[in-house]
Amino acid sequence: MLVSGDVIICDSIDDAGVSVLKKSGMKVDYRPEITPDELLALAKNYDVIVVRSRTKITKPVIDSAAKVKIIARVGVGLDNIDTEYAESKSIRVINAAEAAMNAVGELVIGDMIALARSIPKADSALKDGKWIKKELMGIELKGKYLGIIGVGNIGRNVGRLAKGLRMNLLGYDIFPISGEYVREVGMITTDLNTLLASSDFITCHIPITKDTKHLINSERLAIMKPSAFLINTSRGEVIDEEALLSALSTGKIAGAALDVFEVEPPTNKKLLEMPNLISTPHIAAQTKEAQELASIVIAEKIIQITRGVI
Ligand SMILES: NC(=O)c1ccc[n+]([C@@H]2O[C@H](COP(=O)([O-])OP(=O)(O)OC[C@H]3O[C@@H](n4cnc5c(N)ncnc54)[C@H](O)[C@@H]3O)[C@@H](O)[C@H]2O)c1
Repeated sequence: MLVSGDVIICDSIDDAGVSVLKKSGMKVDYRPEITPDELLALAKNYDVIVVRSRTKITKPVIDSAAKVKIIARVGVGLDNIDTEYAESKSIRVINAAEAAMNAVGELVIGDMIALARSIPKADSALKDGKWIKKELMGIELKGKYLGIIGVGNIGRNVGRLAKGLRMNLLGYDIFPISGEYVREVGMITTDLNTLLASSDFITCHIPITKDTKHLINSERLAIMKPSAFLINTSRGEVIDEEALLSALSTGKIAGAALDVFEVEPPTNKKLLEMPNLISTPHIAAQTKEAQELASIVIAEKIIQITRGVI
């Protein structure tokens, strides 16, 4: 059954989702470089606005978008959309929560191995002509405790992958963690401070909210073991970067891997230059597979909502 409606896509997304929308009968304007002013002027013409993370859907955009019924984020975090305001105007805000699970999970495993074996340091030393084998005594992941903060879609997947590497799992979430999942991976559920004190690796998979901003601050970093590694692929503001810089430079923790930053691109040069920090430019979901899946999931959700199925 064909559907009708005008869709504007404001950021670059995978072609697969664009074709699904077009085949359904919807009229699609693909404007991946649209400016905020252009969007303000054009938003009134569309039933659906699709974004990734570049375009911000603010109150003024929502006010100017009189026909809009759906705002869709081809990804997970909804922090670039004024969700509360959109929902107060009966606009559905949707995301592709499931699409990034595997890509993010694999980056977390890669970060843990890179930290445990100092892969970036080994690589750059060899490129500088230095053979520093003796400095590079690593540790293994097998048998180590991985603390997962936020056991949602991504946190659960990280747990499954880490279980495959024979790690022990600790989990903390504000909502009860499913008993079935806990039994499947053998997770010990615990409070945040116990998780921080007991884990060899800690990985954050929580949204940014008023309660999670700087959840990892100097007091909580002080609870961690000096041998522990911290990984963040969720949202930069979850970690107080100044506190992290201090913990890394004084040896309060052994190292960290960040894919996300308080300001992106990051401006904290001192932090980026820390030898025990691995940083990546928000690439956790940046795989062909995740981007293709996210665009298809979003296109299908838009069609189903338009047909009144969901
Ligand atoms: N780096 C990237 O490219 C990338 C890609 C995808 C997702 N993300 C981010 O990863 C995070 C997790 O995504 P997800 O799909 O797993 O989300 P999700 O909603 O499935 O899971 C989040 C979990 O965090 C829990 N939570 C919320 N507040 C908490 C708190 N104060 N303390 C403990 N737990 C809390 C929730 O109960 C939920 O179980 C989000 O911030 C998302 O934006 C980043």
